[in-house]
Amino acid sequence: MEVPSGSLFLLCFLLLFATLPDPAAAVRIPDSGRRQPSQPLRVAVFALGSFWRSEAVFGCLPGVVRTSVGYAGGSKTNPEYRNLGDHAECVQVEYDPKLIQFKQLLDVFWASHDPRQVFGQGPDVGNQYRSIIFTNGTLEARLAAASKEREQTKSRSSIVTTQIQQLGTFYPAESEHQKFELKHNPFLLQLTGDMPEEELLTSSLAAKLNGYAAELCHSGIQKKIVAKINEIRKNGWPILREV
Ligand SMILES: *[C@@H]1O[C@H](CO)[C@@H](O)[C@H](O)[C@H]1NC(C)=O
Repeated sequence: MEVPSGSLFLLCFLLLFATLPDPAAAVRIPDSGRRQPSQPLRVAVFALGSFWRSEAVFGCLPGVVRTSVGYAGGSKTNPEYRNLGDHAECVQVEYDPKLIQFKQLLDVFWASHDPRQVFGQGPDVGNQYRSIIFTNGTLEARLAAASKEREQTKSRSSIVTTQIQQLGTFYPAESEHQKFELKHNPFLLQLTGDMPEEELLTSSLAAKLNGYAAELCHSGIQKKIVAKINEIRKNGWPILREV
């Protein structure tokens, strides 16, 4: 059989590479965009108090691909952290609708804050910490209204303050607020190979570790991350790429 020398060379080249140690041991491969969901991702936005914590709440959920924090719900253009006007601190959640649905995100929303607290959330006081569900389309609006009614029936003596608003402009927050919990955990950040700022924004791994850093992951995923970390400790494998 005649084999053109060019393809023979290519074959040798490939074989050589197949026998080398995993190049990822030395070179970090970005994890963003590696997942290829069969359906387009969907976007949901919620306000439930400090957005540092809100991002951590949703980041660990199976089916959530990306998270980021920002401002929405008000009228001020180009809000900033120290000057956000009438906006609320929000988390934007990009999710794969085959793996998790808006309805389940609503359950997490209700379970993760006290929607009866007025003018604040937890220790944080102010209008920017109010509770809002943003909806896109009539189905989401119906689901949100029904879930709020259910929440209200749980306790008739106090009012559920949560607003339901049509999803409008989401203004991304300054970078120091993105993946805040992960950024304040040097050990975890190092495990990612000190992921650069732009990648922290889009990485699924960063979203999960951000939740883990805040101890807000469910026990299943929590155990998985602990196991990965222990494996890295044992093997000296330097970089966590996926959980
Ligand atoms: C609402 O959802 C549709 C897809 O169903 C999307 O194209 C559109 O951008 C969404 N609107 C907003 C404001 O995100």
